[in-house]
Amino acid sequence: MKATAVAPANIAFIKYWGRKDAALRLPYNPSISMNLSGCFTTTTVEFSKKFSTDTVSEGFNSKRIIEHIDRLRNIAKTDERVHVVTNNNFPTSAGIASSASGFAALTVAAVFALGLRLSEKELTELARLGSGSACRSIPDGFVKWDGEFAYSLYPQDYWDLRDIIVIVGTTGKDVSSSAGHDTVETSPFFKKRLEEIPARITRLETAFARKDFQQLGEVIEEDCLDMHHVMQTQDPPLYYWNTETVKIMELVKKRMVPAYFTIDAGPNVHIMCEGKDEKKVTNYFKQYKMIINKPAQGAHLI
Ligand code: PMV
Repeated sequence: MKATAVAPANIAFIKYWGRKDAALRLPYNPSISMNLSGCFTTTTVEFSKKFSTDTVSEGFNSKRIIEHIDRLRNIAKTDERVHVVTNNNFPTSAGIASSASGFAALTVAAVFALGLRLSEKELTELARLGSGSACRSIPDGFVKWDGEFAYSLYPQDYWDLRDIIVIVGTTGKDVSSSAGHDTVETSPFFKKRLEEIPARITRLETAFARKDFQQLGEVIEEDCLDMHHVMQTQDPPLYYWNTETVKIMELVKKRMVPAYFTIDAGPNVHIMCEGKDEKKVTNYFKQYKMIINKPAQGAHLI
């Protein structure tokens, strides 16, 4: 059987960095994110007795994709071969969470192609096994991942926010975030980060409840810098920024426009603002290439 799914990338406001169980991809801390309307993966999965081999679109990590398909084949108790055709509408491996949208779309398409009928919670648990942050691309809108599964805190129309991604690099990263999670405990600042996260989550959830953009912005910048502080002090250290990244961070910090930044495992800067201020922000950064995102629906079949 054949199915096609679309899944959005997501940007974390409180980041997932480090896992207490690497095989099960169980995180040390809860994380909260927004699905991105402008960055998505479309994946078609077809299982058939007629296929003699598994195939995956060129340019993708076929080993990791087939490992994930094997998990799902085990659940469905089938050994039918698979053809996976997938594409991203944004640069792969540039810190725009292509593994999140990729494994979310793959999970939803494969589960339906195998004739399995699972709950959203179960889909998030399976997507998590492919790539941790992928579980946050399954539910709608603003999503919390706490332990084994993820769920929607608010739908996409709850708050008219923008994530304006300023593109300063599109080449793949040297160290994958998957490898980075493995050495997180070597940072002397990792434990401190974990101690601070519960209070930060409370502040973020209060900002959401009140739609207090300034409080949201302060929390997301703080957590971004905290995660990168840990990354840069791990052994081996992970430096995901380039000089343009820092230049844009400085410009945002000047607060000439009502916006705050966050950055994932890559050089590109995600500038968060409210919908009413989108034009001010895009005008301020007009010399750069940008991807404009609204809060989006989670993974779904098409
Ligand atoms: O899901 P992974 O293993 O690619 O980890 C992603 C981690 C960050 O993007 C850096 C932060 C996050 O929570 O999305």
